[in-house]
Amino acid sequence: MKSNRNPEDPSSNRKGGMPFWEKMQSKKKAVPAAKKKNFDENQPPASVVRKSMAAGEKGWDQVAQWYDQLVGDHGSDYHKNLIMPAVMARLPQLKGARVIDICCGQGFAGKLLRQAGATLVHGVDASPRLIDAARKRAVADNGLSYEVADACVPGAWADGSYDIALNIMAVHDVPDLPVLCKNIARSLQKNGRVILVFMHPCFRIPKQSHWGWDADKKVQFRRIDRYGSAVEIPITTHPGRSSGESTVFYHRPLSAYVAALSDAGLAVTGCDELCSHRRSQEGLRSKAEHFAAAEFPLFLLLEAFVV
Ligand SMILES: C[S@@+](CC[C@H](N)C(=O)[O-])C[C@H]1O[C@@H](n2cnc3c(N)ncnc32)[C@H](O)[C@@H]1O
Repeated sequence: MKSNRNPEDPSSNRKGGMPFWEKMQSKKKAVPAAKKKNFDENQPPASVVRKSMAAGEKGWDQVAQWYDQLVGDHGSDYHKNLIMPAVMARLPQLKGARVIDICCGQGFAGKLLRQAGATLVHGVDASPRLIDAARKRAVADNGLSYEVADACVPGAWADGSYDIALNIMAVHDVPDLPVLCKNIARSLQKNGRVILVFMHPCFRIPKQSHWGWDADKKVQFRRIDRYGSAVEIPITTHPGRSSGESTVFYHRPLSAYVAALSDAGLAVTGCDELCSHRRSQEGLRSKAEHFAAAEFPLFLLLEAFVV
């Protein structure tokens, strides 16, 4: 059978597009965060395992060079075509706004937000190397500033002065969701708003969700092996290499996100489910693949306001 994969295009696959977060392979088996007993007894899952970063841990510092190259000046393919258009659609009035980009990475979003009218954008990230890259990118713009900080620890940056907070593709990289949400709320003014975009927790759980093909029905299905428990999933960024660079993905069920925002005084007012814009090449399964790609979202956007 003719393959739909394009060997020249690392993003090409038969599955209607797969973000690099999914391509990064799990290093070892997922570790249940909640005790299995809780899962079996249908009790609320523990929202996190570790409550703060391990000593010496600096976010994505160990993969900073790779990530900076991947994202570049304008964002990755998914940032450009899916994530940022959805964020900007939620923020039609950025003129004069003070924006904080929490877990900003290498700062690609700063320029975009400034071009859209934001008075200032302040970025916070735990990785010194990514903040260094962000500062270099921002050198000609006084409205952009960056600082190294753990978003799960109260800091001077959470000073109640911002109109808008962003957290893009990072909430599942942060160990303490309740404290992160409290710090987001502390950073915002009264009536301030936060927008979070992240891997859809119902459909995209590294190592625990997969595409499958039902030959009888000619249907591409999404298989979810576990969802309701919070799990810590180590991810290796360069599976072929022996360098062992890895990050941790913190899967939590959707209820954990709504609960953490609400406990922090942030009322969820909006939700968008973003499906892949990518299309596989023509082939026997492409119709079913395109249908599945439009049915199962990649990313979830949540909007919440300070109440
Ligand atoms: C996938 S990257 C996303 C970065 C950026 N928002 C983007 O969309 O390109 C996740 C980021 O979260 C940061 N991060 C992880 N844990 C953190 C923490 N506790 N405090 C601050 N930043 C953290 C990492 O250093 C990394 O830059």
